[in-house]
Amino acid sequence: MAILVTGGAGYIGSHSVLALLERGDEVIVIDNLSNSSQESLVRVAELTGKNPTLYVANVLDKNILRTIFSKHSITDVIHFAGLKSVGESIKKPLEYYENNVTGTIVLLSEMLNAGVNSLIFSSSATVYGNPEKVPLSEDCQTGGTTNPYGTSKLMVEQILRDFSLAQPEFRITCLRYFNPVGAHQSGRIGEDPNGIPNNLVPYISQVAIGKLKCLSVYGNDYPTPDGTGVRDYIHVLDLASGHLAALDHQNEGASFKAINLGTGVGYSVIDLIEAFEKTSQTKINYKIVERRAGDIAECWSDSSLAKQTLGWQATRTIDEMMRDTWNWQKNNPNGYSS
Ligand code: NAD
Ligand code: UFG
Repeated sequence: MAILVTGGAGYIGSHSVLALLERGDEVIVIDNLSNSSQESLVRVAELTGKNPTLYVANVLDKNILRTIFSKHSITDVIHFAGLKSVGESIKKPLEYYENNVTGTIVLLSEMLNAGVNSLIFSSSATVYGNPEKVPLSEDCQTGGTTNPYGTSKLMVEQILRDFSLAQPEFRITCLRYFNPVGAHQSGRIGEDPNGIPNNLVPYISQVAIGKLKCLSVYGNDYPTPDGTGVRDYIHVLDLASGHLAALDHQNEGASFKAINLGTGVGYSVIDLIEAFEKTSQTKINYKIVERRAGDIAECWSDSSLAKQTLGWQATRTIDEMMRDTWNWQKNNPNGYSS
């Protein structure tokens, strides 16, 4: 009995593989290492004393999937593999739709062939577009995405919903992540972005370590308490435990589910800078600049459905998120290549 984790060498995937191994699951990973390093899984093995089986391959390769499903007794699939940069998706829409949408279709057809019918999909709060209200609950309107990355998540959710109607024996859960941050408390695995980070927390930590000079805060004229953007930051280990809870509840409720994974609390950019400065005892050099195109003012989750249906809620505080980010950054100034 094993769990197939696509994209398991990546940021959220590696923390989830660790959590699965820690609770005794057998884990098979397929990852083409397009945005990750095998080193993450070497360290997961060090931390857990257990080895996941890694296939360095593309989820678009149906022959490899067929081999994996025939060689291992897989019961469930967690599908993290995908491209995730909003800006890059605008420049390379076809790559994004192929990886994220076609990749999921190929995976689903091979699951169907192999008789494996439990899937957990990495969705995103981005499917809500410009939030109709906060907190965002799962019955809020989706759509109005402004880039191919977001649209690819929306399209996959729709495909999975349609597929589950045609194949009622399938159990499909779309987990809509809010803003994943933080790292394992050991400082051995964490987020290792390529080039200059687009996301706030990796940017802050690279300013703290001296790799980047100054954080640009994108706007302080939003209708929020301090004028800067507000988001629901969630510790990556809470996110990992959310996947375990989703696996445990796959056979309950509807055959298709979409569930928010967030903390239910919003923090502003300035809150994050202050929390990071406090836990790291560093000073973050920042300046206020124009708003970033496509950004929304505020977004946080109503996390009650996850609590009701999965018995899960995030437990880690913003200070723990910043502390673990800093511990990872300090110990690995150049990520996995240091
Ligand atoms: P990541 O880039 O660190 O991990 C994705 C992994 O998938 C990488 O290891 C990459 O090499 C692999 N991959 C990509 N395309 C592949 C393919 N065709 N075949 C095999 N492997 C492939 O990203 P992450 O932050 O860990 O995100 C995981 C998932 O969660 C993604 O689907 C992402 O869109 C989604 N998500 C992420 C965030 C976030 O802010 N990090 C928010 C919401 C949703
Ligand atoms: N921000 C800055 N300066 C930066 C980077 C970000 O001020 O250098 C601000 C943004 O304007 C925003 C907040 O920090 O107010 C968070 O921005 P991120 O880029 O870290 O995250 P987003 O909320 O924009 O987007 C993230 C993921 C998306 C995902 C979305 C919803 O990057 O992929 O959350 O889940 F779709």
